[in-house]
Amino acid sequence: MAKKYVPDIVRKYEKGSKLTMLTAYDFTFASLFDSVGIDILLVGDSLGNVVQGRDTTLGVTTEEMVYHAEQVVRAAKTSMVIADMPFMSFQVNSESALAEAGVLVKKAGVGGVKLEGGVGMESTITKIVDAGIPVMGHVGLLPQSVNQMGFRVQGKEAKSEKRILDDALSVQKAGAFAIVLEGLPAKLAKKITAKLSIPTIGIGAGVDCSGQVLVMHDLLGLKAAGDDFSPKFVKQYVDLGALVKKAVTSYIEEVEKGKFPDKSQSY
Ligand code: KIV
Repeated sequence: MAKKYVPDIVRKYEKGSKLTMLTAYDFTFASLFDSVGIDILLVGDSLGNVVQGRDTTLGVTTEEMVYHAEQVVRAAKTSMVIADMPFMSFQVNSESALAEAGVLVKKAGVGGVKLEGGVGMESTITKIVDAGIPVMGHVGLLPQSVNQMGFRVQGKEAKSEKRILDDALSVQKAGAFAIVLEGLPAKLAKKITAKLSIPTIGIGAGVDCSGQVLVMHDLLGLKAAGDDFSPKFVKQYVDLGALVKKAVTSYIEEVEKGKFPDKSQSY
């Protein structure tokens, strides 16, 4: 299978097939996801939460994104790699946003960038797209705007429903090739998906989006010790956290009892 670029993603969408996207932050996991055919690997700024252990994504820097994105790009044989533009790397003005997007492409080698926001981001998205860098939009629940909106499902009232639809239309008009819909009632996500001619990729936005994305740790059940929170929209396909704890407990026991290494593991 060949490396995927924007036209391949668009072709799959136009055929009516669902797009698959999953976050990845390091070489090994990215390689495993790529090997089973994920369309898009997203180096999400959610790494602030699941890798760095922060409460929000606000502290993540472009340098950190480059560090993780480089590893993912190295692993991606066929998947397209998109990197999030972190908080304050694109909000100041469109010139500095383009420069920051350029860093992610030149230093990490990603195939495109994702940025949060709608109506106010039109000129920034256009500027980046005009430079030849594919942009994925992101509307609805915006983790980088947590201080304004909290971590709440958006678009439940008629007014916010219209605002989010306008945001999505702006992102499309600005030239984005796809858009993440996060934390929306399934009905609204369906309506937005029907109105747009670019693919929507949902997270907590129901089944009628053009594709789905999850944070890899949620899908794999990789949680920090003591964390048993799981949002309603997540489907955990395996409990890797439990497997990791079991394996490391056995390792500790065997080392302490002098059972590891045995002859077969020795030179
Ligand atoms: O940062 C991230 O992982 C994301 C996804 C949740 C869409 O933006």
